[in-house]
Amino acid sequence: MVEIKSAAELEKMRKASAIVAGVLVLLKDMVKPGAATFELNAFAEREIRARGGEPAFLGYRGYPATLCVSINEEVVHGIPSPSRKIAEGDIVSLDLGCVWENYYGDAALTVAAGKISKEAARLMAVTEQCLAEALAQVRDGARLGDVCHAVERCAGAAGFAVVREFTGHGIGRRLHEDPSIPNYGRPGSGIVLREGMTLAIEPMICAGGPGVEVKGDGWTAVTRDGSLSAHFEHTVCVKQGGCEVLSAGPGGTAWAHI
Ligand code: MF3
Ligand code: CO
Repeated sequence: MVEIKSAAELEKMRKASAIVAGVLVLLKDMVKPGAATFELNAFAEREIRARGGEPAFLGYRGYPATLCVSINEEVVHGIPSPSRKIAEGDIVSLDLGCVWENYYGDAALTVAAGKISKEAARLMAVTEQCLAEALAQVRDGARLGDVCHAVERCAGAAGFAVVREFTGHGIGRRLHEDPSIPNYGRPGSGIVLREGMTLAIEPMICAGGPGVEVKGDGWTAVTRDGSLSAHFEHTVCVKQGGCEVLSAGPGGTAWAHI
């Protein structure tokens, strides 16, 4: 069942998502060659708590950190570590969730460390474009498949593959609610979106094949062929004629083009 959120619930999600966006904007500038991924995690946890929120991922199904940091062929759920250092040319996906008065916000972006390859830059730009095109489909009366298809079409047109094992999701009083939001689908299929539904839309796109596997740590998902992967995510609310991007960031500008 897909819940419709009340104005009071939306206000809490707005706050949780604003904390996520505000912290991600700061983390973005910490992505530099030589930085340990654990430093980013420690900063994220401190900043979320300083803003009165709680980390959403810490302890979720046993996940051991506040932030997911997924580098290059890592797709999602990379566990921060003091020994894992960011290197020049890496692309670094940062995924963060926050709880505010029992309501969740969730967002992610991929950042370049130093000078990256042309192909890596294109992958990042296309993945963000996939998110923008998905968001452009969201409005009261649209079908969920329209949103899913927009991601698949955008990635496919660029010659990239979408990850099929992980999906976006409804979000609200829990991190993961109905519906599941795959990054592929048929236009005109799926549930009808209604005003007040809240969704976390998160394209995960690979430069090579779509296959992924989970490493021995039980969390880190990597591409099977070792190709690069990028990830962008926003928490949004369905409105008449469009959507409100709850995780749009300081000034409502989000972190890049959206
Ligand atoms: N944005 C991711 C998701 O929606 C982050 C979850 S990480 C976890 O699944 F540790 F909480 F699982
Ligand atoms: Co998510």
